[in-house]
Amino acid sequence: MKILVIGSGGRENAILHKLSESRVELFISPGNGGSSKYAKRVKLNNFEEIKDFCIENKIDLVIVGPENPIADGIVDYLESYNIFTIAPKLEFAYLEASKGKAKEFMKRNNIPIPNFGYFDNFNKAFEFLKSLNPPYVIKADGLAGGKGVSIVYDLKEAKEVLKEYFEGKFKEASKKVVIEEYIDGFEISAFICMDGKDYKFIGYAKDYKKLLDNDKGPNTGGMGSYTPVEISENLHKKIISQVVERTVENIQGYKGFLFFGLIIKDEQPYVLEYNIRLGDPETQVLVLSWDFDFLELLISIKEKTLNNFKINFKNKHFLNVVLASEGYPFEFKTGYEIKNLDKVDEKEVIVFHSGTEIIDNKFITTGGRVLNVVGFGESKEEAREKAYKYASIIDFENKYYRKDIGIIL
Ligand code: GLY
Repeated sequence: MKILVIGSGGRENAILHKLSESRVELFISPGNGGSSKYAKRVKLNNFEEIKDFCIENKIDLVIVGPENPIADGIVDYLESYNIFTIAPKLEFAYLEASKGKAKEFMKRNNIPIPNFGYFDNFNKAFEFLKSLNPPYVIKADGLAGGKGVSIVYDLKEAKEVLKEYFEGKFKEASKKVVIEEYIDGFEISAFICMDGKDYKFIGYAKDYKKLLDNDKGPNTGGMGSYTPVEISENLHKKIISQVVERTVENIQGYKGFLFFGLIIKDEQPYVLEYNIRLGDPETQVLVLSWDFDFLELLISIKEKTLNNFKINFKNKHFLNVVLASEGYPFEFKTGYEIKNLDKVDEKEVIVFHSGTEIIDNKFITTGGRVLNVVGFGESKEEAREKAYKYASIIDFENKYYRKDIGIIL
């Protein structure tokens, strides 16, 4: 079996790691400095080059990590050449690529969501915004690399932010804007996969989106994560019946991964967003918690036999601390050597690469998020202690990481 993974981040590194437990030959485009441990790296520059590579190398299955190629139609394109691709087709891309259309879908299908408005002009948007209590949640409608959400506490400032959005802060992505009632609760990510008809629940993870400790500072792609997330049986049942099943019933034909960004208040879930893929940095902990053969799961999606697939989780805790470049998510310097990776004991942590490359046999920083240090143990505290031990030992100039992953909820 030959699999091509598309993507270059920590999520894709974790996908390769889990798949390397199975009998499979792995390829990745473009990958990062951590990919060669598991896969052959190839640089495919467009859909046509991906298609040609798959045909020439008899690739059985492609996994698409990030949302952009999915929203650009990679699945429809590859499948028109009979290359099976684990991701949804273009008809479902709006679930992530348009926050407004996704909210309208949720509202139509009675899925619990915060009160919202969807606007294509400033005046109407500002009228609606004024009708809400602070803080104000302003979201770019389109894809903005995880940075399109602003939470603003002051009406005057919110007006300015709204103006900036409509004036093209996120180019096409903020030509339309969603304004949402703020719910003060506990955020979690819930993951499923689908084979076009049936679904399986594949875990919860907690993601830390803010740059600074105590959930302060700007939004990032994610600074840490952990799994499992302890929630009550009653809440889990509500998430499945009110969110997952009402969604799945109305997206028949969807295949691949889907994750729900949820906020929980008073034991009631509300959907903040859909993502038509696995999350980053949630995947880095999720795959380690899976007690099943990932390759077999992918085959059951391909063969539409997911209903018979048994999902089990390890009875362990996993916690990921992201090591980033100081300055991320804005301006930051790269090109620094990463030291002490040889001191990592894989009985205590697994390190997944995000923004790295191998240059002259050395690992060098190339991105904002550089490494994911995932500790594991019998408790969240043990996982946390191990992750932080190596977050401190592994070193590079300009290293920055949050100190409160797994402490604050
Ligand atoms: N961690 C959130 C995301 O992948 O969008």
